[in-house]
Amino acid sequence: MHHFTYRDGELYAEDVAVRDLAAEYGTPLYVYSTATFRRHFQAFDSAFADLPHMTCYSVKANSNLCVLRLLSELGAGMDIVSGGELFRALAAGVPARKIVYSGVGKRAEEIREALLADILMFNVESMDELRRINDIALELDKVARISLRINPDVDPKTHPYISTGMKNNKFGLDIKQSLEGYELALKLPGIEPVGIDCHIGSQLTSIDPFLEALHRIKDFNQKLKTMGVDVRFLDLGGGLGITYDQEEPPHPKDFGQILVRELQDMDVTLILEPGRVIAGNTGILVTEVVYTKSTETKHFVIVDAAMNDLVRPSLYQSHHTIAEVRPQGRSTRNVDVVGPICESGDFLARDRDLPEVRSGELLAIFSAGAYGFTMSSQYNSRPRAAEILVDGSQVMLARKRETYNDLVALERQCLKE
Ligand code: LLP
Repeated sequence: MHHFTYRDGELYAEDVAVRDLAAEYGTPLYVYSTATFRRHFQAFDSAFADLPHMTCYSVKANSNLCVLRLLSELGAGMDIVSGGELFRALAAGVPARKIVYSGVGKRAEEIREALLADILMFNVESMDELRRINDIALELDKVARISLRINPDVDPKTHPYISTGMKNNKFGLDIKQSLEGYELALKLPGIEPVGIDCHIGSQLTSIDPFLEALHRIKDFNQKLKTMGVDVRFLDLGGGLGITYDQEEPPHPKDFGQILVRELQDMDVTLILEPGRVIAGNTGILVTEVVYTKSTETKHFVIVDAAMNDLVRPSLYQSHHTIAEVRPQGRSTRNVDVVGPICESGDFLARDRDLPEVRSGELLAIFSAGAYGFTMSSQYNSRPRAAEILVDGSQVMLARKRETYNDLVALERQCLKE
């Protein structure tokens, strides 16, 4: 569910006409709905109300400071994967004790920053990392709370690029290594093992892989108990999918009910790291049709958004619904919606039946709130799009459109004297 609806023949973001936003802020333009963020966060978080839990929103999905602040005010913690994300979360006022830090390649400086901030825990992904965190904690005269990320070798049945819990993936430690890891953790004076962590993949549309992973983790937890590890936090990661097209992912309420039932007998605080299910359908990318053209075999709609703005279709062949901001009622034709970038892989939709559109008209690309702007780039020297947050009839500029000067601001001409 989201708050982008048609009224009087045109698309609104809550109470604001999308056409007015495009006129004022230009295109391509990301538009997010505050009400949708609130609704998604609350639907997810309340599904776990019967358990001690913490919903740590996955910052990588949409890391705009306005978004982080909004979610933090609703009570969210954050799942981070870099020093940059730590910086953003702290800048948005997220309490450090609600931050968990995942990722396979945390650098020493990043570990130091997180220890100094006193985050809740590091989700550690290798023995090397465990030793490094210990060394840095001792240097700083601190003890680092950690969990080990278990790779349970479960197939999440999603796109291979976003599967993370199978044995050939780079993530986490397998069960055997994890046991060795906890043995080591117990011996290291700068380390306090406090939890178990697992994240098996993204855009999962069935609960079964989560359950399979959870069962393996529960067995593993029994072993840890006998070793004397005091597991207080169970972090099950993120990954719950959303509807982009025809998918029918479980509702957070059902997901919650099943997990709550499974965890009744475990005396732990559950941590979840949802990204997409919170942010995915909170945003649209608004783009203007620049030209249309037809070849012998195809019709192209050339728009002013491109793979640098929204890379998901090019990278994962993912489907994003595209619709006219002001439907004109023309007949449909099968088209490729493409951007101006000089690559044939630059498309937003392929072989899509869309009503015929004309130069100057606006299109909305739906489900762009997660992994949209955060994965955008300046490829082809295209300044990044602006981001707008709508709340009822209120409009906030969450990020200004970049300028040509921004493109070169950090560069030097390297002229010889
Ligand atoms: N926790 C960890 C450790 C993660 O690596 C991720 C996502 C999440 C939580 C949040 O997962 P979510 O609830 O959003 O599925 N760029 C891809 C998605 C990459 C996901 C990476 N990790 C896409 O656009 O589909």
